[in-house]
Amino acid sequence: MPYSDVYDGWKSDPDSFWMDAAKAIDWDKIPSKALFDENAPIYEWFSDGMVNTCFNAVDRHVQAGRGDQTAIIYDSPVTGTKAKITYAELLDKVASLAGALVAKGVTKGDRVIIYMPMVPEALIAMLAVVRIGAVHSVVFGGFAAAELAVRIDDCTPRAIIAGSCGIEPNRVVPYKPLLDGAIELASHKPEFCVIFQRNEQRGDLTQGRDYDWNDVQAGVTPAPCVPVAGNHPAYILYTSGTTGQPKGVIRHTGGHLVALHWTMKSIYGMDPGDVFWAASDVGWVVGHSYICYAPLIQGSTTVVFEGKPVGTPDAGTFWRMIEDYKIRALFTAPTAFRAIKREDPQGALVKDYDLSSLDTLFLAGERADPDTIHWAQDMLGVPVIDHWWQTETGWAIAANPVGIEALPVKIGSPSVAMPGFDVQVLDEGGHPVDAGEMGAIAIKLPLPPGTLPTLWNAEDRFHKSYLDHFPGFYETGDAGYVDEDGYLYIMARTDDVINVAGHRLSTGAMEEILASHPDVAECAVIGVTDTLKGQLPLGFLCLNAGAGRKDAEVAGEVIKLVREKIGPVAAFKLATVVDRLPKTRSGKILRATMVSIADSKDYKMPATIDDPAILGEIKTALKTLGYAGG
Ligand code: COA
Ligand code: AMP
Repeated sequence: MPYSDVYDGWKSDPDSFWMDAAKAIDWDKIPSKALFDENAPIYEWFSDGMVNTCFNAVDRHVQAGRGDQTAIIYDSPVTGTKAKITYAELLDKVASLAGALVAKGVTKGDRVIIYMPMVPEALIAMLAVVRIGAVHSVVFGGFAAAELAVRIDDCTPRAIIAGSCGIEPNRVVPYKPLLDGAIELASHKPEFCVIFQRNEQRGDLTQGRDYDWNDVQAGVTPAPCVPVAGNHPAYILYTSGTTGQPKGVIRHTGGHLVALHWTMKSIYGMDPGDVFWAASDVGWVVGHSYICYAPLIQGSTTVVFEGKPVGTPDAGTFWRMIEDYKIRALFTAPTAFRAIKREDPQGALVKDYDLSSLDTLFLAGERADPDTIHWAQDMLGVPVIDHWWQTETGWAIAANPVGIEALPVKIGSPSVAMPGFDVQVLDEGGHPVDAGEMGAIAIKLPLPPGTLPTLWNAEDRFHKSYLDHFPGFYETGDAGYVDEDGYLYIMARTDDVINVAGHRLSTGAMEEILASHPDVAECAVIGVTDTLKGQLPLGFLCLNAGAGRKDAEVAGEVIKLVREKIGPVAAFKLATVVDRLPKTRSGKILRATMVSIADSKDYKMPATIDDPAILGEIKTALKTLGYAGG
């Protein structure tokens, strides 16, 4: 059936469309309907169904006689480890850890934080938590103790499951001291922690609070799946907003299962048994949806890769993975391909490997620049599909649904809206604009199954951040346009969010940290264009009069402070001291103008600027950092 028929079919009868998709899920009680709009504009899906995520991702495949199929491939060039886990083995491991959690008192609805590197145990922990109806919140390993502490206080977990360390190509990252530091900083204290000890660096266990991963499971009874209501939260995933307080995106169980299962065939063209590799991290939404849940719910094989596209050991690693595991679809961020292209521009390493298993490359997480897409197409000889989504939506808002119909690719566009998403481009007043005109991208409510119903403990913020600006719509925070053929173009964020190496970061959060330095009177952080990472944060500092400090010293200190408070993932390495910041007469800092100057782009002198001469000073400061043509 052509894509347009599928999309129109959804639009004319959304409930039937989603009830039909729901048949692919094994329910303990089949829901009576798809949409629950009684509390609009808070919408829920499949609320009166009963279901378990882990059962659908693991047990049912074993019961169907596919226990010997590989569920998880683990490949870790940083430790020299390769392993495969079958569905039957996965079931044993998950039920055992779930049993240990139950034995320690974790029950339905309790939160459990997971702070783990890219090892299969991260997925086992996620599945064990949802197996017993508890709610996980995975925290990315590149975040510092303070970020972990904020999440501990917000979701108040009964337990934390952590790895003893992560491994970056140039260093071992001890997680245990970060975990201890975070618990120390947080007001809420978890009752206990489970530590997965790794040989590269073991952690010191705190007596009475910390349990070794293996010891805690010794002699426990494996736990059965606990059916939960369709609107029971499966997980909370924190993402950057405009302030230092991250937003806790909630994912409800029923819609998550239905939507993710639907995407595997329709968007990614995958069949059960195929090998699907999302080269991301379990700490991000791509890792939740496409390393852990969707491939397993479908009964495909997923890949846990602990390495980088370059340097582990070289720019041929991705190609080696495709050959070794007969990967059919690869999903990663454009930045990974830019890193490979930079090391091996001619693709000499591509020729060393048999890539015949690969059907499609999917890119998301940031804007896919045409150069990278062309290069990937030339090197791999397969369609390169850009698709656009967010932590909030959990799956693609716009894509080229190769499993339904491979539409013509338009480079620079993530293609068309997926069923469930009525995407519109609006002007400031909330009126739809014409094709080709830029505006705020919004989605007509309700959002489809699998997307966020609200924010954890922050319904007001949910309304303010997403619903209030354009009544009746969800505001994506992205700006762009739709062309005559309905293809979307995502051009920029409308808020303080920047995208660094496919990682979503808040410049507002960084400004809060800079401002906390005793010598900083005022500051601004902008995202400047970077050829590898897409964007990089750059900070301007105005120092207190009479601080008597050397500029470079303070700049160095704030760089250290951001690394300590947010973590290395912030990649905050550019800071400069200026006398003043450019502002409007009403005192608003002109960040967008500074971005244009940094990127050497034309800009219009803002009519409301207080003192145009400051822009010259900003340009000089940027040149010393190698920007603004410097
Ligand atoms: N734990 C601890 N530290 C981490 C980390 C983790 N899980 N992930 C990244 N870091 C650290 C890095 O070591 C680096 O530290 P450094 O400042 O000491 O060098 C810092 O955080 C910045 O990391 P990153 O921005 O990833 O840069 P990089 O130079 O290490 O790697 C790429 C660059 C492009 C190779 C890498 O970003 C990449 O593979 N990106 C793919 C993006 C992706 O998967 N996005 C997910 C959405 S799909
Ligand atoms: P995250 O929530 O971390 O997945 O980040 C979501 C944001 O990343 C989106 O709101 C966009 O700004 C950006 N993004 C994700 N995918 C794309 C894409 N394919 N094209 C352009 N921007 C993207």
